[in-house]
Amino acid sequence: MSLADDLATLRASARDRLSAATSADAVEALRHELLGRSGELTMLLRSLGTAPEGERPALGRVANEVRGEIEAAINGRLETLRGEDLERRLSDEALDMSAPGSPVRVGHLHPVMTLMRDLREIFHAFGFEVYEGPEIETDEYNFELLNIPPDHPARDLWDTLYVAEPGSVEAGDPRPAVDGTILRTHTSPVQVRAMRALDLPIRVITPGRCFRYEAVDASHGFEFHQIEGLVIDRDTSLADLKGMLEEIARPLYGRDTRTRFRPGYYPFTEPSVAFDVACLVCGGPGCAACGRTGWMTILGAGMVHPEVIRSGGFDPDEVQGYAFGLGPDRMTMLRHGIGDIRLFFSADLRFVTQFPEGR
Ligand code: DAH
Repeated sequence: MSLADDLATLRASARDRLSAATSADAVEALRHELLGRSGELTMLLRSLGTAPEGERPALGRVANEVRGEIEAAINGRLETLRGEDLERRLSDEALDMSAPGSPVRVGHLHPVMTLMRDLREIFHAFGFEVYEGPEIETDEYNFELLNIPPDHPARDLWDTLYVAEPGSVEAGDPRPAVDGTILRTHTSPVQVRAMRALDLPIRVITPGRCFRYEAVDASHGFEFHQIEGLVIDRDTSLADLKGMLEEIARPLYGRDTRTRFRPGYYPFTEPSVAFDVACLVCGGPGCAACGRTGWMTILGAGMVHPEVIRSGGFDPDEVQGYAFGLGPDRMTMLRHGIGDIRLFFSADLRFVTQFPEGR
């Protein structure tokens, strides 16, 4: 038999064997048998050298044709098998293309984060940008630069968590770090950081987490959130602060919300005020939630103390400004009627998923 006959036989047998193959694996095995390195076509080509020289080019052409045909037949067969497989699975109802997909669980923000996001948007409309500072602070920024010297009685207002001097815990002798590293007890230290970093006019808010050495109960956590606000410019007044806060209260608590300023005390503002809104539970007459006063304090504020302006690197005779600090955790409790602050950090999805508006 000549090589030409062998090629013709292979061509026919490949076609038959491929159409008899009933699985993709069987087709792949045939690919190997026919075209592989020691496959049937390869073997035939090896004997090309023994054919009469004049016939070799023609035989080579035929061999290439056969290879092309076999490859096309393999791909065609695989395609057919895939189609049959899909049809079989559809008719077996193993794969029901009309069935609804399984729901993908999409998370959402924690209710406190949702409230902080809403506040960011409101303050953004008033021209405030976000300026963040570190949660691990120093005594200097947290207290001293805010006009609270080491032995000032106002320090009692902030029960501080101190970071230990390296090695002192292991040595059984825990001492506060000599460089004064602490966990910030409020976001106010970022006032000084912002003043030192930014040019006038400064108009920033600082949302963030704070820490205090607290006896934890339904209304006190050892970690909580604050949003600090700071405006520093050449011509700002308490009237600006009051007008701005009144406008902020409206989108939060409604157009007709009544508000008031009340004298307050903070070492870093002078004068200092508390900003109250009409009780969100009773609306004014007085109830248990507002201690029968009809008012709820939602933030502390005031004109930035000249010493703090100086800490920030400005001359208090030339610039002044106002600052405020509010507590998003308490505001979230009021928004949703949540009675226990400990739920916020409970890491319990049954709690968090009750507040899906943070999507
Ligand atoms: N830092 C204060 C606190 O933690 C809150 C505060 C009060 C911030 C008055 C201010 C402010 O900026 O002006 O209790």
